[in-house]
Amino acid sequence: MDFHDSSQVFFEKKNKATARRSFAAFSVVTMAVGIGLGILIGRYAICDEKSNSEDSGQLSYNKEADPRISEEIINQIDAEKIREYLRDLSEFPHLAGTDADYKQAKEIHDFWKNEGLDEAFITPYDVLLSYPNTTDPNVMNRIFVYNENDDIEWESALYEPILHPSENKSNVVPPFNAFSAPGNITSSELMYVNYGRVEDYQWLVSNKSINVTGKIVIARYGKIFRGDKVRLATRYGASGIILFSDPKDYTYGVDPKVYPDTWWLPESGTQRGTTFMGKGDPLTPGYPSTDTAYRVDEESLKGDLLPSIPVHPIGYGLAEKLISYMGGDEVPESWRGGINITYKFGGPLKNAGWKIRIRISTRNIRRTTYNAFGVIRGSVEPDRYVLLGNHRDAWVFGAIDPSSGTAVMKEVSRVMGNLVRAKKWRPRRTIIFCSWGAEENGLIGSTEWVEQYIKNLAERAVAYLNVDIAVTGNYTLDGGATPLVHHALYEATKKVPNPNTAQAGRSVYDNWKMTTPNEDKTQPKISPLGSGSDFASFVQQFGLPSVDLTYTYDEDKYKIGSYPLYHSKYETFYAVDKLLDPGFQTHKAMGQIWGELARNLADSLIIPFDVRDYSRVLEGLVRQLNSSETGAIMRTKMSLDKLFEAARNFTKEVDAFYTMQMNVRKSNPYDVRKINDQLLQLDRAFTDPAGIPNRPQARHVLFAESSVNVYAGSSFPGLIDSTFEISGSPNEAQRWEVVKKHYSAIIFAIQSATSSLRDVTKFMPVT
Ligand SMILES: *[C@@H]1O[C@H](CO)[C@@H](O)[C@H](O)[C@H]1NC(C)=O
Ligand SMILES: *[C@@H]1O[C@H](CO)[C@@H](O)[C@H](O)[C@H]1NC(C)=O
Ligand SMILES: *[C@@H]1O[C@H](CO)[C@@H](O)[C@H](O)[C@H]1NC(C)=O
Ligand SMILES: *[C@@H]1O[C@H](CO)[C@@H](O)[C@H](O)[C@H]1NC(C)=O
Ligand SMILES: *[C@@H]1O[C@H](CO)[C@@H](O)[C@H](O)[C@H]1NC(C)=O
Ligand SMILES: *[C@@H]1O[C@H](CO)[C@@H](O)[C@H](O)[C@H]1NC(C)=O
Ligand SMILES: *[C@@H]1O[C@H](CO)[C@@H](O)[C@H](O)[C@H]1NC(C)=O
Ligand SMILES: *[C@@H]1O[C@H](CO)[C@@H](O)[C@H](O)[C@H]1NC(C)=O
Ligand SMILES: *[C@@H]1O[C@H](CO)[C@@H](O)[C@H](O)[C@H]1NC(C)=O
Repeated sequence: MDFHDSSQVFFEKKNKATARRSFAAFSVVTMAVGIGLGILIGRYAICDEKSNSEDSGQLSYNKEADPRISEEIINQIDAEKIREYLRDLSEFPHLAGTDADYKQAKEIHDFWKNEGLDEAFITPYDVLLSYPNTTDPNVMNRIFVYNENDDIEWESALYEPILHPSENKSNVVPPFNAFSAPGNITSSELMYVNYGRVEDYQWLVSNKSINVTGKIVIARYGKIFRGDKVRLATRYGASGIILFSDPKDYTYGVDPKVYPDTWWLPESGTQRGTTFMGKGDPLTPGYPSTDTAYRVDEESLKGDLLPSIPVHPIGYGLAEKLISYMGGDEVPESWRGGINITYKFGGPLKNAGWKIRIRISTRNIRRTTYNAFGVIRGSVEPDRYVLLGNHRDAWVFGAIDPSSGTAVMKEVSRVMGNLVRAKKWRPRRTIIFCSWGAEENGLIGSTEWVEQYIKNLAERAVAYLNVDIAVTGNYTLDGGATPLVHHALYEATKKVPNPNTAQAGRSVYDNWKMTTPNEDKTQPKISPLGSGSDFASFVQQFGLPSVDLTYTYDEDKYKIGSYPLYHSKYETFYAVDKLLDPGFQTHKAMGQIWGELARNLADSLIIPFDVRDYSRVLEGLVRQLNSSETGAIMRTKMSLDKLFEAARNFTKEVDAFYTMQMNVRKSNPYDVRKINDQLLQLDRAFTDPAGIPNRPQARHVLFAESSVNVYAGSSFPGLIDSTFEISGSPNEAQRWEVVKKHYSAIIFAIQSATSSLRDVTKFMPVT
């Protein structure tokens, strides 16, 4: 591959030009806003006139949002435009840190300038990324099997073959796991560890007395994050790990056809992916990767956040070959996959004297990645930001992950930008479209940006709306969100027609509620946010209300690990256009939901957060904790009564605040701003600046991924982590002090949230 760093000077020039132009264009609006807030209420009419000459939308400080704009946005989202954008975006590979990364950042930046947005920026970050060697076949990543004479009996393919002409492009990165340790290791033993989870190793030890120390292991993808598989293999002493996509987890038994005939994974399809266990640039934890940043020694991260052993991914065609060389007993039913072969535990290879070798030449290299931003400046509250984001970097063509989301985001920004340019509309608050770099390596672009601008964002951001993979099916919406955005998400989905005409239900909401109701069947189910995409640093570092959306397949019918072509070379435009969403109606619905949700948050006089959703969710989480295994462990040493009490107190204050909010004098912009500021600050109150135990950058005490599965949404992550296998552990007494301290910090966070909702001069309780 032909990488080079683009010049930073170029951006500085660009940004200055951009800044100048936009300053001129908006100085009038800015002045109007300044004057408006500075003078008496009776003079609004004068300001309206002034602003009308600059910008058509009536600039009035107490104006409710215009419902016609909601309809305009929903009606103007165009499926054919999304299709065109996706074809462009996924025509060539666009891996983070390559020329294509910069090229696409520049293209989307220019698109925003051309489609009526006010400002566009590119921010580069110099970060640690990881690349396989693609120039020398004698060192390229490969698995070998040697016979007793040390002759090569078999070797793995270097590339996935071309199955459809559209994949015939240069710069396709061969299958690899980012941040794998380089190495050249040989073993006479290969062991199968099922999904490579803690329970799988425990099962091997206690039922088969199998010890993987010093051996190469092979695990199937699925159930937990691949980084956890590598970390656990290391912890159990393995010298290397091979990851494969099993047909049972990535195809559908009754359908023998695979890509390019169907969306099911072909035998050569290989899941690339990172094995970094942190977020952001590995070298600058907690701080932005600017040129003055302190960078930690890479070696100090190995074995914990970065792997210390080689890891390599393969498809099920190669896995079948490898399994055929394995010895050992047959595995039980629950460990069997979908390859037509006898799955064995392994041990010495079947033939005496044979050996397996993994050769990995992947290197960690510092490179520049780019975030791009497009801004629509708010008319009344330009200092309040509604953020929409999607990453841009892909392992290969990325037509699903992430370009389906990028194509939809481009369409939402085009429609909004054109309304602004036509002077039909300007949102009350600022809207910022964010195109992140290097998400695939570990949420790097978004995390560095959050770290760099955390003071601005923590003061001013209203919400972050993430769509990474827009569409993996046409069955139903899969929505994750923090509590305050539930209401607005439901409202948006009620306005959007169900794209799947074969299903009952007129709106996305109807269909969503029918397919995936919540526990009491009153609303669609919204899952809490764990990690796995760019919302994570917004939620965890400063408590920003956030949403993550995908339109998905029937997950009860298809018990698969993820959509089948995930991170393989076969995520092509062809696959989306012909197999996944012909006609792009599902992509269109995603644009309508995303656009309407953003409009509502940016344009409503009162931010459409329903605080009652927060108390409902919190009380549910506390009950859930109490009845969980973590709760049971905690109750052996402490009472959870005060936690219940703090949650009840919160609910009371929430109800009082809600009444106050309903009765706010909307004619008074200061009253409106005061209520909005309390809404804005509520989720922030649940963050602990010190972070949850051992995770200084995970500060939200309620929401973060569980530390044993980065993909799972998890509540009270600090309690789950700190009580994990605590009883009988060597430093048990010390560990209980950590649990108690964190428990007290959680209660304090809830009390802080409670006082943040009180009347502003009565934030101290009456005694
Ligand atoms: C690939 O390996 C060859 C041979 O060891 C080396 O000369 C070359 O610099 C490597 N390329 C990269 C990009 O690491
Ligand atoms: C890929 O494209 C090249 C050049 O156009 C052509 O020679 C080759 O046959 C193509 N390969 C496949 C598998 O289609
Ligand atoms: C890797 O190990 C094999 C077998 O142990 C050895 O023949 C080969 O030279 C080694 N290759 C490298 C690049 O170190
Ligand atoms: C050992 O196998 C039995 C039967 O499959 C299972 O019930 C038991 O949980 C296993 N032991 C462990 C420690 O997993
Ligand atoms: C596994 O084997 C290694 C080295 O052979 C040994 O040090 C370790 O104690 C063993 N672990 C168990 C659980 O038996
Ligand atoms: C599985 O393999 C066996 C033996 O190779 C063969 O007879 C059988 O037809 C295969 N089954 C399927 C479903 O392909
Ligand atoms: C929805 O997807 C299924 C399965 O991929 C497909 O058979 C069906 O035609 C699709 N329906 C619509 C309305 O797109
Ligand atoms: C907490 O759980 C325990 C054990 O299930 C139960 O006895 C107790 O009533 C629960 N507390 C509350 C307040 O629900
Ligand atoms: C709940 O509120 C009451 C009344 O204000 C107060 O006395 C009590 O300390 C609060 N409990 C907690 C755990 O915050």
